[in-house]
Amino acid sequence: MTAVVVSDPGQAHLQRLMASWGMLADLCISDLLLLLPFADESGSRFSVIGQMRPTTGQTLHKEDLVGRLIDEVERPLVGRAWRLGEIVEGESGIGGRGERARVQCIPVRFGGQLLAVLTRESPLSIGRRPGELERIYVQVFDRFARMIVNGEFPFLGEDVTTEESPRVGDGVIVLDQGARVEYASPNAVSALHRMGITTNAEGLRLDELGMEETAVERSFATVLPVNEEIERRNDVVISLRCIPLLDQGRITGALALIRDVSDLRRRDRLLISKDATIREIHHRVKNNLQTISSLLRLRARRLHPGLGRTALDDVEREIRSIAIVHEILSRDASEQVAFEEIIRSLVRMAEDTAHSLGKPVRFRTEGDAGELPADVATPLAVIITELFQNAVEHAFPDDGKPDEDGESPGGDAAGDDRPWRVEAALANNGHWLTVDVRDNGRGLPPGFALESTTSLGLSIVRDLVTTQLGGSIAMYGGKGTHVELRIPAGPGAGDGLG
Ligand SMILES: Nc1ncnc2c1ncn2[C@@H]1O[C@H](COP(=O)(O)OP(=O)(O)OP(=O)(O)O)[C@@H](O)[C@H]1O
Ligand SMILES: [Mg+2]
Repeated sequence: MTAVVVSDPGQAHLQRLMASWGMLADLCISDLLLLLPFADESGSRFSVIGQMRPTTGQTLHKEDLVGRLIDEVERPLVGRAWRLGEIVEGESGIGGRGERARVQCIPVRFGGQLLAVLTRESPLSIGRRPGELERIYVQVFDRFARMIVNGEFPFLGEDVTTEESPRVGDGVIVLDQGARVEYASPNAVSALHRMGITTNAEGLRLDELGMEETAVERSFATVLPVNEEIERRNDVVISLRCIPLLDQGRITGALALIRDVSDLRRRDRLLISKDATIREIHHRVKNNLQTISSLLRLRARRLHPGLGRTALDDVEREIRSIAIVHEILSRDASEQVAFEEIIRSLVRMAEDTAHSLGKPVRFRTEGDAGELPADVATPLAVIITELFQNAVEHAFPDDGKPDEDGESPGGDAAGDDRPWRVEAALANNGHWLTVDVRDNGRGLPPGFALESTTSLGLSIVRDLVTTQLGGSIAMYGGKGTHVELRIPAGPGAGDGLG
């Protein structure tokens, strides 16, 4: 017992129908169900593959019916519509509780073939006369229903609708064959007012009302729905969606949905300018840090070589590494940075230092730390800068040759005349971020213990790793030095620390 397998284009047709049927449910102010017949049962049993409730009225079905089976006994009209290939209307029991409703069954045709049945289900409206708006909505729905039976709706090359696309409740304008306004709903009239259009719209074309008409023109010309946003002075923005109404291939009019999106656009603009402000601030912070770093460099140059000068050089480099993070943050407003870019800059900086010390060190990075929040990326940049600096400073002797048993950590690249290597491997599995920095230098001095080191560089590193990042650090000597960092990188990592 399987539901009919609908061919791929057929399936796409049904999917398009379900993508645009919110409008249909709103127009007919009823619940819609899409029913797929079971194979080889000539329309005696169907399964519900989609359900849509109206936003313009109450729903008849409080429960979710998708996946439910419906048989001939329960809904005789559905089977009849399927067999006739025509719209069938009547009163029918719905659900198991003997409730009765008005049911309209609309066969869905595509490429000459029946695919499914769309049912419109509404409460019995005994003794209640619908208002003008409701009457016109339902009339338009009936035109769509005919198009569905004829295989003319949904449209093949339909524009995508979004959350912000105008809906029936936002404002409805019905256009006739000559693109003249036949009817404008109260909300549509209000939207027109906001655009400064106060003339009675009926009988006039939109351009005669003083409104751009390109969407309507294009929609009539291409026989496809067209979306457009129309901007007016004093920041009024109207979103218009024009959907042609057809009868056997002939355009008989169009439905235009219009929505005043001025507030949405204003909010967008505010958000954009907030983004721009954040970027601008990062840019300024970066500039200021670069200025500080230049000042330190100038000061350092005037000192005699020695501890004081080294200290200034170190600070200068740390500040530059922080500036790199802000530089990247200034490019887009997210609080996340692609660390790959940062590490590239850090490597360049370390290569410059190595070069200025006359040490031919080759740097290599491997893996990726991914996108990191700024409050993780900033300390990490400072940490890696110090580790690179230490490798350049301490791992390799000043005479330009590696120590006797110095070994390449990552295998030697062919033809590389720089046997001194520093390699950084980064990985981030969403829970942990690991950073391994290895060099093939002389290794740590005998008796070295990270826990008891009082020298500044590694003390800062240790402090940043454990306190600011909540992670751990280990250092191994031997053939070269290996520093291993393990930093929590799950959601919220870095929050509340430091
Ligand atoms: N990659 C390395 N290879 C060999 N020895 C290292 C390496 N990294 C650190 N060391 C040793 O650890 C010591 C402490 O490093 P640390 O960075 O704390 O201080 P420093 O580099 O000497 O001074 P600074 O405060 O300027 O960084 C170094 O003096 C050095 O002996
Ligand atoms: Mg150091």
